[in-house]
Amino acid sequence: MTYKEYFEKCKECNKCRLRATATQVIPGDGDENADILFIGEAPGKNEDIEGVPFCGAAGKFLDELLASIDLKRDDVYISNMVKCRPPGNRDPQPDEISACKPWTNELIKIIKPKIFVLLGRFAMGKFFPDFKISQVHGKAYKKWDRTFVVMYHPAVALYNGSFRETLINDMKILKKILDGDESDIEVIEEKKSEIQKLLEKSREEKNSKKDSKTQMGLGL
Ligand code: URA
Repeated sequence: MTYKEYFEKCKECNKCRLRATATQVIPGDGDENADILFIGEAPGKNEDIEGVPFCGAAGKFLDELLASIDLKRDDVYISNMVKCRPPGNRDPQPDEISACKPWTNELIKIIKPKIFVLLGRFAMGKFFPDFKISQVHGKAYKKWDRTFVVMYHPAVALYNGSFRETLINDMKILKKILDGDESDIEVIEEKKSEIQKLLEKSREEKNSKKDSKTQMGLGL
């Protein structure tokens, strides 16, 4: 799928209940060729009206965070875990996140980001379901040859001013990585899934059977 196709198809999505109350679907915004993908939670009231992610108060602070490390919106791509506004800005529900997952995955395939910036616990949960944001904010991880930076959601600073400094500080790890210093990145070895292990075992068994048949055929 091309970016244009993604954008147009996503705009027409009707896969979950959020579409009924939202004004429009908001697929994302920014440079489709960016190396950095920011993933937030869900559009809010302003985003729902404008059709652009992070264009309200949280977005203004996100712009400040970007500027604090000499980045602009145009340097990155920004989207959300769910692409329609939940009524009253409530948390997105697990089934709504699941319904939107194919769009997020398609976007990732198109953008091919080298660095993911996960804004808040919902975006973090997609990649690191066992993590606690209070323990991992401001940290960077590497898995699948991709870098993931975990941050608190910018909106937390709107409710509690003391988080402003935390977020500004946490942003510095992204700057460090962009400057080529990867020394703070923790590499995560993914545990193999049970299915993966079973498949590998049956493949090995098949190969060893083939080998012994060949050996017998050769009279060895
Ligand atoms: N909060 C989000 O998570 N996303 C937006 O687009 C706006 C606010």
